[in-house]
Amino acid sequence: MTAPFGRRACEVLDGHASGGYRVFSLLDREGPEPEPGQFYMLAAESHWEERGGRPFLPRAFSVADADPADGGVRLDFLIEGVGPGTDRLCELVEGERVWLNGPLGNSFSSPRELSENAAGAILVGGGIGIAPLALWRRRLAARNVPARVLLGFRDETHSGGLDDLFACCEVALASDDGHIGHHGYVTDLLAVMLDGDDAQSAAVYACGPPPMLDAVQALCTSGEVACELAMESPMACGYGACYGCAVPRGDGTYLRLCVDGPVVRA
Ligand SMILES: Cc1cc2nc3c(=O)[nH]c(=O)nc-3n(C[C@H](O)[C@H](O)[C@H](O)COP(=O)(O)OP(=O)(O)OC[C@H]3O[C@@H](n4cnc5c(N)ncnc54)[C@H](O)[C@@H]3O)c2cc1C
Ligand code: FES
Repeated sequence: MTAPFGRRACEVLDGHASGGYRVFSLLDREGPEPEPGQFYMLAAESHWEERGGRPFLPRAFSVADADPADGGVRLDFLIEGVGPGTDRLCELVEGERVWLNGPLGNSFSSPRELSENAAGAILVGGGIGIAPLALWRRRLAARNVPARVLLGFRDETHSGGLDDLFACCEVALASDDGHIGHHGYVTDLLAVMLDGDDAQSAAVYACGPPPMLDAVQALCTSGEVACELAMESPMACGYGACYGCAVPRGDGTYLRLCVDGPVVRA
C-alpha cells in the first residue's frame, strides 16, 4: 500500500458548465502529476458540512486531465451533481479552495502490458465515467499509441465533457434516447468493433455504470480481448484504512478498490 500524500488546500482556477456536467480546475502546488485512472479525495474548504451535516467526508473523483502549470500541476475534474458533495463541488468558482488528497489508487496499464499483441487501445466510456479516459487518451496519443474512443450517454441532461475533454479527437457516440450518435448503448458500438479482424490486437479500457462494465467484460471475455475496467464504490478514506470500498472478486475474496484499484483486470 502506498502511504497517502498529505491533505492540502488547492485553489480553484476555473469552474464552468460542460453540457449537463461541470468541469473545474485546481492548482496543486505540492503533489506529483497523476497517472491516468488515479483519483483524488476532494472536499470544498467552505460550506461542506452544511446540508444536514453532510457530506462530512471527502468524495472520490477521477482526474480527467493534468498538466504542469505555473507553480504546480493543473488538475481538471468532471463532476455530475448527484448529492450534497457533488452539488457543492459543482458550485465552485475561481478563487475558492478545495481540500485534496492524492493522487490515489492504481492506473491503467499500457496495451502491451495487457496483451503482447495489442497494437492499440479502445476506450469505452459511459456517462460521468468518461472522465478518466480523457487523460488516458491524451497520454496514449503522446506515446503515438492509436486509440479509438466510444462514448455513451443516457440523455442530454446526463451528458457533457465532450468539448472540454475530447476536442480534437475522433469519438464515436451513442445515447440511450438517440439525442446524439447511435441510438442505443455504447456497448453496441464496441460489439461491432470487436467483430472486426483486428479486434484481438487491441486492449479495451472502460469506465461507466456497473451494467455497462458488465457488458464490456462479457464482450471482451467472449472475444478473448484484454480489458481493464475503472470501477467505483463508495469510499470513506481513499487509502486503504476503512475497508468501506471492499468489492467481492469472483473467487470469494475481496479487494479494496481504493488501493487494489480503481483499475482492475476484467
Ligand atoms: C474512484 C472513483 C472515481 C470517481 N470519479 C468521479 C468523477 O470523475 N466524477 C463524478 O462526478 N463522480 C465520480 N465518482 C463518484 C463520486 O465519488 C460520487 O458521485 C460522490 O461520492 C457522491 O457524493 P454526494 O455527496 O454528491 O452524494 P451522496 O448522497 O453521497 O451519493 C449520491 C448517490 O450516489 C451513490 N454513491 C455515492 N458514492 C458512490 C460511489 N463512489 N459509487 C457508486 N455510487 C455512489 C449513493 O449511494 C447515493 O445513491 C467517483 C467515485 C470513485 C470511487
Ligand atoms: S476507501 Fe477506505 S479502504 Fe478503501
